[in-house]
This record gives sequence, C-alpha cells and structure tokens, in this order.
Amino acid sequence: MAVVTFLSAKGSPGVTTTALLAAALWPRPALLLEADPAGGDVAARLSAADGAPLDTGRGLLPLLTAARRGLDAAAVLDQAQPVAGGSRVVLGLTGPQQAAAGGRGWAALTAAVEDLGAGPGQEGTDVLLDAGRVGAAPVHLDLLRASDRVVLLVRADAAAVLHARDRLRLLGTALRRRDGLLPRTGVVVVGDGAGRGRDAAGAVEVLRAAQPWVEDLGRLPHDRTGAAVFTGTPVARPERTALVRAGRVLVTALAGRAVHPAPRSAA
Ligand SMILES: Nc1ncnc2c1ncn2[C@@H]1O[C@H](COP(=O)(O)OP(=O)(O)OP(=O)(O)O)[C@@H](O)[C@H]1O
Ligand SMILES: [Mg+2]
Repeated sequence: MAVVTFLSAKGSPGVTTTALLAAALWPRPALLLEADPAGGDVAARLSAADGAPLDTGRGLLPLLTAARRGLDAAAVLDQAQPVAGGSRVVLGLTGPQQAAAGGRGWAALTAAVEDLGAGPGQEGTDVLLDAGRVGAAPVHLDLLRASDRVVLLVRADAAAVLHARDRLRLLGTALRRRDGLLPRTGVVVVGDGAGRGRDAAGAVEVLRAAQPWVEDLGRLPHDRTGAAVFTGTPVARPERTALVRAGRVLVTALAGRAVHPAPRSAA
C-alpha cells in the first residue's frame, strides 16, 4: 500500500486532472482521496459509473466529522464511490471553512489512511491524494507527511517555477518526519508543448539546483482534449490522447510497475 500525493504551489497546473488521470491508469487497486482544503471538484465534473450524479453526502466531510470518535481504514473505503471511468473517489469538501472545521480530524484521517491495506480484504489499496495548493501552514500537513511520494505539478512559466521553488524549500522542512526522512518528492512540468521543451527542462534545472533532493518525474503535455476526459466531456478514444499517453509514463514511474490498458471515457 502506498500514499501518493499530488499538489501545487500556486495557479491551477492540473493537480486534480493529474490525480484523476493517475487513478484511471493505476496498476493496483487504488482510491483517489480529494483532500484539497480549498474544496473538491470531482462531484461537479464527473458522474457516477452508471451516469447518475455522484452522492455528495459521502466523502471527506463525513470522515472528518466521524474522526472525533476515531476512524479506521474501513471507514475510508466506505466513503469511496466509483466514478465514470471506474476509479474510486472519496469526494472532497465544499471549501476552506469545512477544511478548517476538520481540526484534529485530519490527524485521525491520516492514521486511517496509513492503515489502509492492513485489514482483511484491503490488501494493496493505494491512496492517491489530491492535496490542492499547499501554502505555509497546510491543514492537512499530517497527510502530506505520511505520503510515500509527493508529486508537485508546475507549469513552465517563470512565475510558476519561482513559486514552486519557494514551496519545495518549505516542504523540505515541513515534511521531514521524526526519523529525519522526507517523502520521496518529484516534480512534473505541465505544458511541455511544441517549442516549449526548453522551458520545461529549464524549469526542472532551476528547481533541482535549489532543491537537489527533488526528482524529475517528467512532463505532461498541455492537451485540452485529454484533460476534457476528466471534466466529464465525451472524448473519442481517450487512450489515444497525448495526456493519457504521457500519463502512462508518469504512472509507471510512480507505481513502479507496468500499467493497465486504457481508461474508458469518463463521459
Ligand atoms: N495537461 C493539461 N492540459 C490542458 N488542460 C489541462 C491540463 N491539466 C488540467 N487542465 C485544465 O486546466 C484546468 C485546471 O485543471 P485542474 O482543476 O486539474 O487544476 P488544479 O491544479 O487542480 O486547480 P486548483 O488548484 O484550482 O484545484 C481545468 O480546466 C483542466 O481541464
Ligand atoms: Mg484541483
């Protein structure tokens, strides 16, 4: 069982899209936990596997609320529901107010997530976490620190790279665990379009020069059609889109194994 966290420093480089992409291609049983303190997007973007609206009564909020009485891994699995395309998702919050009200519930949730895979019938449920934008005092710091891998999404423009550099410096301190180790942390540059390859390489160079412990996890293309799959728009042959093809390479690097065949269209 592994916890893989996707986050950004600023802007909207595609954290939610990439987390959904990874969930669709993940080679082992997995669930996507929408833990962005700014609020979740999946319920508004995707439908249930049968085309009905997703059940917004289930998700992260009931977990944080129940956490005061203690949480276990089964409770987390209970709040997951299949979305169109087949991935299992724990839907996120409505916004920062709910995130702040979660209080110590975040720590209990972290313990339950770490327990996933330990109970009967739960072996090998990996957790893909959409952590949203991460600032100086993230309410979900415990979850971030408990991650096996952290993936920072960044666009290649100069401002985005500078914000990412600042945030990686902060994460290098904030995510350090009691044993002194950090989650394995990498960067994915989004928007490596025609003629912009040099920008992406330059972005990684800047980030790794400042934070050499950060890995280069490659690129994701700017691909509106591929991204539309994860907003519920019907897309013919999603497996042929540049984004899904690049997603396979990323997932192979993250999951450390060959990946499944194509996801079905999320429409
Ligand atoms: N690789 C991509 N190519 C083209 N468009 C993309 C890509 N990734 C995401 N998008 C689009 O960019 C917009 C923002 O994406 P998304 O919501 O995934 O970003 P985010 O980083 O999660 O943003 P936020 O911080 O607001 O939650 C969406 O319209 C999405 O479809
Ligand atoms: Mg998002």
